[in-house]
Amino acid sequence: MIRILVINGPNLNLLGMREPEIYGRKTLQDLEELLRPLSIERGIQLSFFQSNHEGAIIDAIQQGRLSADGIIINPAAYSHTSIAILDALKVVGLPAVEVHLSDITQRESFRHFSYTSQGCIKTIAGKHFQGYVDALDELKKYIHLHS
Ligand code: DQA
Repeated sequence: MIRILVINGPNLNLLGMREPEIYGRKTLQDLEELLRPLSIERGIQLSFFQSNHEGAIIDAIQQGRLSADGIIINPAAYSHTSIAILDALKVVGLPAVEVHLSDITQRESFRHFSYTSQGCIKTIAGKHFQGYVDALDELKKYIHLHS
């Protein structure tokens, strides 16, 4: 069983009511309910973490060293600011896929660059919840190839 930790960053707890024209009307709970059965089909054990706090996200990534084989992360706005989260991804050395619901390359210029994606094997943006599903498949493929 592959163990994957799904980390969602600041303001994603308010998914569904937060700028729905950009992020859609589905909630974080809906995302978990979508991913659970899909992960079971794929032989993946998922755990979910969300925080609005940079340090808490770093702690969760560090703890993943002992409890996960891979990470799916949407660092939200911290993507564009946090060298500390990038360093945490590098230090744990687990394969990570970065997901953005929206297409950050088509939005304000300050969203075009992501520090954290530089610690990830791949970035998927603009596919909404499907991006997380694709991230599961990417990680599964990568972990099989490298184990
Ligand atoms: C986001 C994009 C970020 O620029 C933004 O700050 C978010 C969400 C996305 O999923 O599209 O909070 O990561």
